[in-house]
Amino acid sequence: RMAEVHGLLRGRLRIAAVTTAEYFVPDLLGPFAAAHPGVDIELTVENRDRVVDRLQRSRDDLSVMMLPPDELPLDTFPFLDNPLVVIAAADHPLAGKRLTLSRLAKARWLMREPGSGTRMAAEQHFARVGFEPHIAMSLGSNEAIKHAVSAGLGLAVVSRLAVADIVDTPSPARGPQLVQLKVSGFPIRRQWLLVWRRDQPMSAAAKRFVSYLRESRPSRASLAH
Ligand code: PGA
Repeated sequence: RMAEVHGLLRGRLRIAAVTTAEYFVPDLLGPFAAAHPGVDIELTVENRDRVVDRLQRSRDDLSVMMLPPDELPLDTFPFLDNPLVVIAAADHPLAGKRLTLSRLAKARWLMREPGSGTRMAAEQHFARVGFEPHIAMSLGSNEAIKHAVSAGLGLAVVSRLAVADIVDTPSPARGPQLVQLKVSGFPIRRQWLLVWRRDQPMSAAAKRFVSYLRESRPSRASLAH
């Protein structure tokens, strides 16, 4: 239930975000939550298929994803660039070299699980350029992909924001060691969109969040590397 009492917006804001968005959505929610103490925020993080399923059942007020489904009546607002990059273990022999995808024809590729938007975007890109990757393994999370790649099990396509902490500030003492490979055709240029059902009434808290996101463009620049 939403009511504005003495100027204080009260209610609930349910947001579903795909897993690549978990690296920045909490940062977006922080200032909004601080400015709206009467709004209870529920953030659900799932892969694309599950976020689309929730959208079909109108489980959330807003969704954050890269590839919205065509079959639902949706409004969308693109709000942040989502470059998808190829990563390899830090000691990979091709690190630092300029490469074409055909150079990577014999490579082992690690993919996210079926249902992942990252996997869908990678597959669309590979199909478009006529590249058939040798898929060695499917893994169910970005973190599992990062650790498997750093262990030398193969290459992967990931959202750059999911690896920014590692490839921008490598620290050999901690965590997986990764590099971004320089592959022509990459990064795949995508965007994150805020998505909602056009055929459902929008709550006051959701409307407020959409305006907040429209107005906070300059501060978002610091999220995108
Ligand atoms: P996902 O997220 O790979 O976790 O599905 C990416 C997306 O769908 O935008």
